[in-house]
Amino acid sequence: MSKLLIIGCGGVASVAIHKCCQNSEVFTDICIASRTVSKCDALKEKLEGTTKTRITTAQIDAEDEAALVALIREYQPDAVLNVALPYQDLAIMNACLEAGVHYIDTANYEAEDTQDPAFREVYEKRCRELGFTAYFDYSWQWNYQEKFQKAGLTALLGSGFDPGVTSVFTAYALKHYFDEIHTIDILDCNGGDHGYPFATNFNPEINLREVSAPGSYWENGKWVEVPAMSIHREYDFQQVGKKDMYLLHHEEIESLAKNIPGVKRIRFFMTFGQSYLTHMNCLQNVGMLSTEPVEFQGQSIVPIQFLKALLPDPASLGPRTVGKTNIGCIFTGIKDGKEKTLSIYNVCDHQECYKEVGSQAISYTTGVPAMIGAMLVATGVWQKPGVFNLEEFDPDPFMDALNRWGLPWHVEENPVLVD
Ligand SMILES: NC(=O)c1ccc[n+]([C@@H]2O[C@H](COP(=O)([O-])OP(=O)(O)OC[C@H]3O[C@@H](n4cnc5c(N)ncnc54)[C@H](OP(=O)(O)O)[C@@H]3O)[C@@H](O)[C@H]2O)c1
Repeated sequence: MSKLLIIGCGGVASVAIHKCCQNSEVFTDICIASRTVSKCDALKEKLEGTTKTRITTAQIDAEDEAALVALIREYQPDAVLNVALPYQDLAIMNACLEAGVHYIDTANYEAEDTQDPAFREVYEKRCRELGFTAYFDYSWQWNYQEKFQKAGLTALLGSGFDPGVTSVFTAYALKHYFDEIHTIDILDCNGGDHGYPFATNFNPEINLREVSAPGSYWENGKWVEVPAMSIHREYDFQQVGKKDMYLLHHEEIESLAKNIPGVKRIRFFMTFGQSYLTHMNCLQNVGMLSTEPVEFQGQSIVPIQFLKALLPDPASLGPRTVGKTNIGCIFTGIKDGKEKTLSIYNVCDHQECYKEVGSQAISYTTGVPAMIGAMLVATGVWQKPGVFNLEEFDPDPFMDALNRWGLPWHVEENPVLVD
């Protein structure tokens, strides 16, 4: 019996909304609010008649805090699910605080204008102090801890797959299989093929910024940063096969390093085909991945935003993508004084996702946990005042919900380790 306000109506939101509508016992009412209201109306029209969930829509610019507060006050949801872009995280958190509702998102804050002097000052200090240079980090949102605590509200950060499910897998491994976890390797494999020479599986601007940034990992209490794509391994993934994967910086490394006591090393690897890398290197070399505006024929253009306009819309990849994803974690550590290794992973089939909700598996594997996080917060199962990452809650209800809502997981003892 919950009312959820969902901000954003893109690839991930569409799956989360489909899943809320399948879960109408919990989500009796949802409001889909986004910048382009016609997309919200189209989705409402598609879903009405297939669900008991009452759907309303609204136009909102999530950067406009006053308008957001007014919308929240008018709709009176139990929680707000932010599946717009990371650029809007802080504005939506501010609005939730002012209007007194819980907050859930799937990606940590990133500044849209990375040249903004106020952002630059904090960013450069963090680069010097922590030693990684990605434009996104948790400090901005962790700074809201006291405000959410005082307001008696929950902010759940990163309720997608990675971060999100990978954080829950870690908490589950620690609760049920280990006394201490020493190393975590997060492996994100997309064995899907969409048939385009180059496309990104989710928002191209966010995706390319993440992938073209230097890689980094956590080891013995500090960050080690390496040039982009400079650490390569091959891994044989269950139900997918052998793939090349590369070490990336990724946001859950930061929270797991803080929240998993005694962890010595955390790395994140993602698979990429040679064609993707060749295209990305070329685009980077010619400046098309730049976030700095350039003057072109009297107009100011941000190259990566222009590129986004040229690339296939990730939402259009669904019908064309075949193959499977395999995303999970490999843990090493100690149980009852003995060394132990374990992996927990999910395999998801692009075409099965498309048949069920009209989206490919990347949106699916993010949208399902977004719905689950919203459900656990809205129903009070995962509520405590403050700002939290998913590994800070009891993993069991989330793990049960993954099995029920389309992302069943497997536990494998003695998996092949990554060297
Ligand atoms: N944790 C994970 O595993 C994971 C994985 C993938 C993605 N993600 C995150 O999921 C989020 C959504 O990704 P996506 O691929 O669904 O992106 P997307 O397809 O580009 O959708 C973004 C949506 O947000 C809306 N939006 C953008 N700016 C807005 C604003 N100022 N006010 C209101 N709405 C606004 C867009 O509206 P328009 O329709 O008008 O453009 C669009 O509907 C991103 O934060 C991404 O980083 C997380």
